[in-house]
Amino acid sequence: MLSAEEREEIEAELQRYPDRQAVCIDALLIVQRHRGWVSDEAVRDIAEALAMSPAEVDAVATFYNRVFRRPVGRHVIFLCDSVSCWIMGYGRVRAQLAARLGIGFGETSADGRFTLLPAPCLGACDHAPAMMIDDTLHGDLDPERLDALLDRYS
Ligand code: FES
Repeated sequence: MLSAEEREEIEAELQRYPDRQAVCIDALLIVQRHRGWVSDEAVRDIAEALAMSPAEVDAVATFYNRVFRRPVGRHVIFLCDSVSCWIMGYGRVRAQLAARLGIGFGETSADGRFTLLPAPCLGACDHAPAMMIDDTLHGDLDPERLDALLDRYS
């Protein structure tokens, strides 16, 4: 069931759009902000609130890579795997993340600190290799910079 707070925030978004379905991504992100991820139950609840089918809400959720349909760590790393980053050291960064955190794509570190996900071009090709941690973009990743960066996230 959606919490009173979640419902209130979704209702506030509904005032801004002409139809309920237009609020789908916002509703998913509201629930995710409160719970960390979006469960099947939450998809059903959002669908009911927006007069959509659960399949329609799930289609939006799974299309948009910033909506997490499984639990994630306290921080999510989006590692760019597009061409400029491939050329400039994506493989080295990925290997360093695997060695340091013990995880591959789709996995969460044992301490619950990081989840690692692939991402298409982050628009920082001139600073490749690049990744995002949560909402912050980091580029020019070399081994020292990457190590120092990971230390900043608890
Ligand atoms: S290819 Fe990685 S930021 Fe563009």
